[in-house]
Amino acid sequence: MARLGFREWIAVGQVIASGRTVRYGEKKGPFTDRFERRLAEKIGVKFAHTVNSGTSALICALVGAGVGPGDEVLVPAYTWVATAAAVASVGAVPVLVEINETMTIDPDDLESKINENTRAIIPVHMINLVCDMDAIMEIADRRNLIVIEDACQAVGVTYKGRRVGSIGHVGAFSFNLYKNMNIGEGGAVLTNDERIYARARMYHDVGSYTRGHGDVDEPVFIGQNFKATEFDGAMLNAQLAKLDPLLNRMQKRRKKMAAILAASDNFDISPHNDPENAVGLTVRFSSQEQAAAFADRRGVFHLYDRSRHIYTNWEPIVARRAWHPAFDPWSHAKRDVAYTAQTCPKTLDLLSRVCQVSVGEQYPLPLMSYLARTYVAASKDIVGETISAHA
Ligand SMILES: Cc1ncc(COP(=O)(O)O)c(C=O)c1O
Repeated sequence: MARLGFREWIAVGQVIASGRTVRYGEKKGPFTDRFERRLAEKIGVKFAHTVNSGTSALICALVGAGVGPGDEVLVPAYTWVATAAAVASVGAVPVLVEINETMTIDPDDLESKINENTRAIIPVHMINLVCDMDAIMEIADRRNLIVIEDACQAVGVTYKGRRVGSIGHVGAFSFNLYKNMNIGEGGAVLTNDERIYARARMYHDVGSYTRGHGDVDEPVFIGQNFKATEFDGAMLNAQLAKLDPLLNRMQKRRKKMAAILAASDNFDISPHNDPENAVGLTVRFSSQEQAAAFADRRGVFHLYDRSRHIYTNWEPIVARRAWHPAFDPWSHAKRDVAYTAQTCPKTLDLLSRVCQVSVGEQYPLPLMSYLARTYVAASKDIVGETISAHA
């Protein structure tokens, strides 16, 4: 989680002083445009567009890519409901894919779920853990699918030297208060594709037809109002300056803590799709009981307890309910798509046995090393106790 401080306070004050609080029109301010140029450069894409949330960014990315009713979109069974809800919001149907031991979408299961209705894949880089993008892009190229990276939980993180969000055809960021860049609520769409960019911009702003869309020959269509304000743009400029230092602190702590945790025989450090540059850290036990007992300490979270991210708890998706029956995406689907406990049992099993270990970027490195050593000692007791309880 990125902190807000003096720089953001000054940034908001500048917007108030200027009286230019919006990004379009006569009272247009400079901050959001400037942020987008800087963000695109940092992430390594041609176009970045700011919106009011990560959910809006996903919806704009899907609209930008032309995904709609009758399409199936592959999403991992471990993510925040927004990933699947964004798919349903454009009239398409989310199809769940298992995660593997990396805690990200399983490329083998993904390939097995592709059919003639599949239009896109949304790999999700959960808790700063990056997906196997080489395998995913290879499948997508071969099967002619669009890749929309949900990088909401991994803003700025790299996969083999490239920033996530820049590897697929389009990417989505969230800037809500839990994320690597935090302005309370916010998001961005990233792409190298001019047409996706133009369509995403059209959808994010119901009045966009009055503003023009550059040289792209794309007929106008009805949009929403997902616009960012100049307060957002100004704060995001301040947050962007803090992003790499934050990620560097995370990386350092992750490296040190992983080296200490590797000494334990009582859990496995989850494999990572780019270990050299890893930021996120999870450990896997052999039973749910052990993982739950381990999570009873500071800085450790049992993924099963973060129940909002478990697909069986995504109530409106499980119920397959849209705001109006005629807008029901599942009524346009060409087959029945299920969301039961039997749909992705491997994901449920992994979530029950895995704990996230916070890398504590706001704390000194020696303290985090000390904590890692206490985790190793605690794991010995926990596993010993559970083994003797079952003996
Ligand atoms: C993986 C993932 N996708 C999408 C979103 C949606 O972002 P927002 O809350 O900014 O709408 C989130 C936010 O928590 C998320 O964690």
